[in-house]
Amino acid sequence: MTEIMTLRNVSVHFPVRGFLPFLKKGEIQAVSDVSLGVRRGEIFGLVGESGCGKTTLANTMVGLVKPTAGQVLFEGVDLHSLPREEFKKTRRRMQMIFQDPFSSLNPRFNVYQLVSEPMVIRGEDDEETMKARVVELLEMVGLSAQDLYRYPSDFSGGQRQRIGIARAISLNPTFLVCDEPVSALDVSIHAQILNLLLELQERLNLTYVFISHNLADVKKMCDRLAVMYLGKLMEAGDADKIFARPLHPYTQALIAAVLDIYFSEEREIVVLPGDTPSPINPPPGCRFWQRCPKAMRGCKTVPPAFLEVEEDHFVACHLVNGFPNQDLPEGFDQPMVGREKVPGR
Ligand SMILES: Nc1ncnc2c1ncn2[C@@H]1O[C@H](COP(=O)(O)OP(=O)(O)OP(=O)(O)O)[C@@H](O)[C@H]1O
Ligand SMILES: [Mg+2]
Repeated sequence: MTEIMTLRNVSVHFPVRGFLPFLKKGEIQAVSDVSLGVRRGEIFGLVGESGCGKTTLANTMVGLVKPTAGQVLFEGVDLHSLPREEFKKTRRRMQMIFQDPFSSLNPRFNVYQLVSEPMVIRGEDDEETMKARVVELLEMVGLSAQDLYRYPSDFSGGQRQRIGIARAISLNPTFLVCDEPVSALDVSIHAQILNLLLELQERLNLTYVFISHNLADVKKMCDRLAVMYLGKLMEAGDADKIFARPLHPYTQALIAAVLDIYFSEEREIVVLPGDTPSPINPPPGCRFWQRCPKAMRGCKTVPPAFLEVEEDHFVACHLVNGFPNQDLPEGFDQPMVGREKVPGR
């Protein structure tokens, strides 16, 4: 299967400004050196806690954010090397569905205006064609022609998300990023919208990047996935393999927390202490070391390589891959205990 989206060593840094705007205090490393490939026709999951860089990475894929370093290839072409007109045309084939279906729809536009807006901007269709297309789209997402002149406030959360989906597919995209598309919806509607996304994916031959911090949804939806922590990939590859045998302690903890079915070899549930540290000037070693229940002394300073452990199953962890052959701190393979895990020590 060919890759529709390829990221090569992509980093996105945002400057942190101090009291005087021209003084740079540091930088938020929202995404650090991420390489991954999304295959045509699949649903690729992006998982991780709030603030780990999922949205930033997705925005980089669809050209909304320019990477600080690295390349974004859409169908093999470097997105940011395209001339302006070509870039615009290519971007139309990638769309996004957002988390909050209320704030992402302009409340002063009716359904027809909302769904036809991308076509109006493209400027290729007359009014009649657009109206027919909008009705067709509404039917595809489970709404109808009767809804054309109603406003977002007339709809429930689930229906608003359907409007958002109709709008996202209006220009026949091939690549769709769904950024937490059901997090704001209640449980019964949640499943309906996921089913609608699955149905449309099949019918329209779409490729999805599906962002979620809910691993149960990811398990239901995704063929492959990547687990992020503080801007870095911890584990990635085939979803069945990762769910059957999660290798990274972070993935193990996420699965244990959500699905309540995964126990580590000692049959203990892994519970993560503390909160996610700040992505401003993160430490040089493994970004997860402070919260890792199995951290060794070397994890603090030696960055783990991201290696393929079995076919299409990658992990960045010294516990799995072993330490590289280089200068290693004393006692590098001894477990860290108690106060050793306090930041700054
Ligand atoms: N435009 C920006 N300027 C400065 N910092 C930003 C910007 N966008 C994101 N960040 C920071 O980058 C980090 C990653 O943010 P991002 O929104 O990508 O996370 P996320 O994984 O999508 O989180 P959530 O699950 O809450 O949506 C955060 O620390 C955030 O504060
Ligand atoms: Mg986000």
